[in-house]
Amino acid sequence: MQDEYRAAFEQAYGFALAFHDSRGHRSPAATVSFDELWEALYVPTPDDGMAAPDVIKQLAAGVDAGLMGTAGPRFFAKVIGGSHPVGVAVDWMTSMWGQNSGSYLASPASAVTEQIAAAWLLDLLSLPTNCSIGFTTGATMASFVCLAAARGKVLGQAGWNADAEGLFGAPPVNVCVGNDAHAAIFAALRYLGLGHDRVLRIPTDDAGRMEVAALSSALASCYGPLIVIAQAGQINTGAFDPFDEIADIVHRYGGWLHVDGAFGLWARACPTLMHLTAGIEKADSWATDGHKWLQTPYDCGYAIVRDADAHRHAMAYEASYLPAAGGECREPFHYVPELSRRARGFATWALIRALGRSGIADMIEQHCLLARRMAERLTSEAGVEILNQVELNQFVVQFGTGEPPERRDQLTRATIERIQIAGTCYVAGATWHDRLVMRFSVISWATTEEDIDRSADSIVAAWRQVNTGIALC
Ligand SMILES: Cc1ncc(COP(=O)(O)O)c(C=O)c1O
Repeated sequence: MQDEYRAAFEQAYGFALAFHDSRGHRSPAATVSFDELWEALYVPTPDDGMAAPDVIKQLAAGVDAGLMGTAGPRFFAKVIGGSHPVGVAVDWMTSMWGQNSGSYLASPASAVTEQIAAAWLLDLLSLPTNCSIGFTTGATMASFVCLAAARGKVLGQAGWNADAEGLFGAPPVNVCVGNDAHAAIFAALRYLGLGHDRVLRIPTDDAGRMEVAALSSALASCYGPLIVIAQAGQINTGAFDPFDEIADIVHRYGGWLHVDGAFGLWARACPTLMHLTAGIEKADSWATDGHKWLQTPYDCGYAIVRDADAHRHAMAYEASYLPAAGGECREPFHYVPELSRRARGFATWALIRALGRSGIADMIEQHCLLARRMAERLTSEAGVEILNQVELNQFVVQFGTGEPPERRDQLTRATIERIQIAGTCYVAGATWHDRLVMRFSVISWATTEEDIDRSADSIVAAWRQVNTGIALC
């Protein structure tokens, strides 16, 4: 049996290394259909088992053509980090160690590593050192955690104990969100019983930034508990809300300011980009991801809360066999919804240790330079329009400048299809202010200037084909 498991590990190791070596030249998109994947993987519920090495072999062969190149250098369609090799190696160890990271007792090693990683994160992001951090699956759950703390706190200030009484009969909570907030925020509000439709949507500018004057006048007619949600890094444009002014207004009304900074909060780890986040440190909570700009393997997010008591009140629970709040050590489960979960602190610790402050700053800065390089190349091509100022690593493009809006949408869709068929890089469409756009995001540690130039050639060639009528769908 021992030999069988050792063979399984070796088998998996071989496949993993082969995949790693092929990242630069394999297709950035899946090359098989749903039906083909199903065919490769489906068997009736197995009655009998299979030798471990054969299981590994069958799965690896079955999924290979269905894997996306998100861990490769030319995947630009979504804000998806590249699973850095150091984080992946540590993630292998994390699985091997099999730690339940819920409590200090269940895994002292995980609890202490998490606590150190949390302190490093606050330092790198220049946030107050007494904030508490919960290690979540991602930014959606990080916002959920932060907003749960916010909900408890603002209702508590209104004399209502939401933990005990829930929302039945509670004073209504006013929630203000920028019109171009990420969908994750509306999901988090829904999970919390705050509703995604009853929020006050604050108008935004061309880049998706919340209009301060509009927020100010909205708050003038809000009474009672208040939560305002701002954004660092708009998913299409990378834009940042004007936090300094927003924070002052929200606090003047006694509200809680939460910031969704899934990727944009990391601008604070880069001295040349720090100014984009001015005033963000005045917020009450921040959600961000490890699996985006820090490049940890999936999944990893951080819920950061200034008021650690509010954070714990929202998340911690009691059982006779579990440590109570207020003990000597930080208990990881007091800051997230789960008790049993993966030890995400190991990969976070390892990535920060491997890259260091300067390595993280350089990587983030380089991604922004690469985004600008691509934008400049595309702008120099007739008929291509970049719709936002490239402040960070994100931009949106339309093809067919000067054409009527519907035709531009059609040309953009056709160009995206051509790029996907060519297979040099992977891009996809989105809707931005009622226009069909190609979104471009540079966020993988693996992307180089050469990848950008090769991809630019491919995008320009696709556009020229579409523009000359060779390839219009
Ligand atoms: C601004 C923003 N918020 C939230 C999310 C959701 O993050 P996650 O997928 O880690 O839950 C994203 C994902 O791209 C994002 O860009």
